[in-house]
Amino acid sequence: MSTTTRSSTDRLHALKAFDDTKAGVKGLVDAGLSAVPAIFHHPPDNTPTHHLTIPIIDLAGLMTPSGRASVVGAVRAAAETLGFFQVLNHGVPEEAMCEMLAAVRRFNEEPAEARAPYYTRDQRRRVRFNSNFDLFQSPAANWRDTLLLEMAPEPPSPEEIPPACRDIVPEYVRLVQRLSRTLLGLLSEALGLHHHRGGYLELEQDTACLQGLNIAGHYYPACPEPHLTLGTTRHSDPSFLTVLLQDAIGGLQVLVEGLDGNKWVDVPAVAGALVVNIGDHLQLMSNDRFNSVEHRVVAKSSGPRLSVACFFGTPGAVASKIVLRPIVTDGEEARYRSTTVEELLREYRAKGLDGTSALHHFRL
Ligand code: OGA
Ligand code: NI
Repeated sequence: MSTTTRSSTDRLHALKAFDDTKAGVKGLVDAGLSAVPAIFHHPPDNTPTHHLTIPIIDLAGLMTPSGRASVVGAVRAAAETLGFFQVLNHGVPEEAMCEMLAAVRRFNEEPAEARAPYYTRDQRRRVRFNSNFDLFQSPAANWRDTLLLEMAPEPPSPEEIPPACRDIVPEYVRLVQRLSRTLLGLLSEALGLHHHRGGYLELEQDTACLQGLNIAGHYYPACPEPHLTLGTTRHSDPSFLTVLLQDAIGGLQVLVEGLDGNKWVDVPAVAGALVVNIGDHLQLMSNDRFNSVEHRVVAKSSGPRLSVACFFGTPGAVASKIVLRPIVTDGEEARYRSTTVEELLREYRAKGLDGTSALHHFRL
């Protein structure tokens, strides 16, 4: 057996042993681990960090027509460049945000025996707790455990949702869905699309882009050797749009491509704000006008860090029927071939988080 085969067999055993504990990274930390195991080691990333402010957009401006125009302008500018912005006065009350983070924390801090029944990689279950959805595909594991809830269009029954989250999740879903409709309106206007029969023709009616909602409650335990690993490997989101709630710890960074090379820029925790980012589906549909920007989460020696990512997109059940095609204007050329949502998601799942974009595969 060659050395590489031996080491990949060893790695597979280590991954399997870790997965079989069903206790996640939190389980390792609870066991008093003082070094980061090899399966979590990432190659060093020498990309420098850079100070740049992620735009903060106050949606209170939507109350007046002139305010709306300036909000649309700010959304357009952010979507076309960084692909990330933060929103304030977004209609999700601060108590709901705090309770949502607290619920994810409560779940992850239950005894391992209470979490284990939820631990699964079975895509048919609408509630899935695991450490690294791509544990067996990605080149290196992340210092993170996640509770994934597929909340729309078909929510799980209340009994399927862990008791720690049962009360707040449906309420949070309602609030964040309302916000998503506001955001779709702003993004559509920013693209120059027109309101049509209660929706935005090309985006909403053709793609059902807000009908699917997956919520990922992430738990990033404090890490003994944060420089050796990552909370989340760089990636762009396989969604149409993502709305992220993060606690005060920080660690989320976006990749800014510049003439003098790439740089990581912090997305600082802003009290009361939600982070919005453009997903791959919207980048494709906007024919690259909007940017689905790569981002990552660095591991930290402090923690745990909690975040809740709401991924809006076409529901899985219709993904094979919905075709995404770039909306082109003024004789512009399409930069992507048409693809089904299913094909795009399959590409994403097959490779795991490996630092490459699933969109490359569809570029013309
Ligand atoms: C994600 C993500 C960032 C975070 O779930 O796709 O980028 O801060 N999360 O947890
Ligand atoms: Ni992401």
